[in-house]
Amino acid sequence: MKLIGLNREEVKQTFKNGEFTIAVYGMGKMGLPLAAVFADHGARVIGVDINAKVVEMISNGENHIKEEPGLDELVRKNVKAGRLRATTDGAWAAKQADVMVILVPTLTDERGNLKLSPVYDVAEKISQGLEKGDIVITEATMPPGTTESLIPIFEKSGLKLGEFGLAHAPERTMTGTAIRDITGQYPKIVGASDEATLEAVIGIYETINRKGVIPMSSIKAAEAVKVFEGVYRDVNIALANELAMWCEEHSLDALEVFQAANTQPYCHLHMPGAGVGGHCIPVYPWFIINLAKKTNPRLTKIAREINDYMPHHIVELTVKGLNKIGKPLKDSNILVLGLTFRGGVREFMKSAAIPIIKELKEWGARVYAYDPLCTQEDAKRFGAEWKEDFKGIDAVIITADHREFKELDLEKLASEMRGKVIVDGRNVVKLEEAKKYGFICLRVGRV
Ligand SMILES: NC(=O)c1ccc[n+]([C@@H]2O[C@H](COP(=O)([O-])OP(=O)(O)OC[C@H]3O[C@@H](n4cnc5c(N)ncnc54)[C@H](O)[C@@H]3O)[C@@H](O)[C@H]2O)c1
Repeated sequence: MKLIGLNREEVKQTFKNGEFTIAVYGMGKMGLPLAAVFADHGARVIGVDINAKVVEMISNGENHIKEEPGLDELVRKNVKAGRLRATTDGAWAAKQADVMVILVPTLTDERGNLKLSPVYDVAEKISQGLEKGDIVITEATMPPGTTESLIPIFEKSGLKLGEFGLAHAPERTMTGTAIRDITGQYPKIVGASDEATLEAVIGIYETINRKGVIPMSSIKAAEAVKVFEGVYRDVNIALANELAMWCEEHSLDALEVFQAANTQPYCHLHMPGAGVGGHCIPVYPWFIINLAKKTNPRLTKIAREINDYMPHHIVELTVKGLNKIGKPLKDSNILVLGLTFRGGVREFMKSAAIPIIKELKEWGARVYAYDPLCTQEDAKRFGAEWKEDFKGIDAVIITADHREFKELDLEKLASEMRGKVIVDGRNVVKLEEAKKYGFICLRVGRV
């Protein structure tokens, strides 16, 4: 059933009755949870992916996103009930669907330069099956203006915008909490090409999201919301890092100061650390920087610079720690704990470990690495030797807040390590305990 022209309450009813079909393009960490949640609320859902193995698994009721709690059950249940199926044929899915959601990767390099080929590819497929009254929603993160730049591709269908609806509803979640976030952690942001499309899309997201919907005045404004969220984080982490390094110079414990300052409601000092990684926070500021023609986003740029400096600062702290035990960095044995950019997720984009390993090696250290989510090959790829114990190690550097590192057995470390230096880039080590075992423990904002 086509949704344009229905009010939000009518959309909710047709949703629950399974009277319309949604095609979700991209069955990855974001797309599969969304498709499963749509199906669980009654819609008929077709998941589309170019990866035939992924499609086969979903068709068999199997979830391939293992980091997502609850997704196994959601996929199994809804495939069995016939509400969720998968295909590699994007044009066929577009013909079946009344609503198409684009959630494929928006690939960028570290400076936010876009490679939108997956989005364009999906837009072409959709144009081959687009019908009057259909709605296309982009959920993938888009630099403001990108969704509307796809209109000429959709219009290859022979339809004009207005005959079909277009909307942006950014994914406001991250790997590992997608189901929780999609269904009610934060309100959904929606911007659409016209009032009727906006009304229908509000009905869709109010069905699955207990926190409701914030309608925006335009598609571009909705795109900006998601990008600004990332910029806010990046700039505030940079501020925390700057103040933390100032605390080091003045023999203060930054976390002590931050925690006390944050009891005042206008202060939200973030956590300082080894750097900002991932596909989102360090990349979105570049969308703003790259799209600025007349304004000069100085603060956004300098925040990027500060956060990119942090892996080098971790090396500086390591040198400081080694000096305290009378060891030069050259020929020291350093173990880097964590190759991924954050805890619990096997993703490497702008991981702090990568520049840290590189710089340590340039200074002549022997660098080892361990990460519970990685393999020996991953360590080798980043130039380190895999090591699962602490024997002969002079300094340990923690670069990812994996659960295993929050529960480090410091007694074992103390008995196996040659030196007793810990550089805690993620503030996970209990300082009192470290002190008890005689460790020199440094972290950003506390030396
Ligand atoms: N992962 C996150 O934490 C997160 C958070 C918020 C927003 N996002 C955004 O969500 C979008 C998707 O990210 P993700 O993490 O789910 O990516 P992902 O890499 O986990 O999955 C993407 C999926 O899309 C498929 N795909 C690629 N090209 C395709 C095509 N042409 N047609 C059909 N399928 C195709 C891939 O095979 C893969 O299964 C991105 O824009 C990302 O910026 C991600």
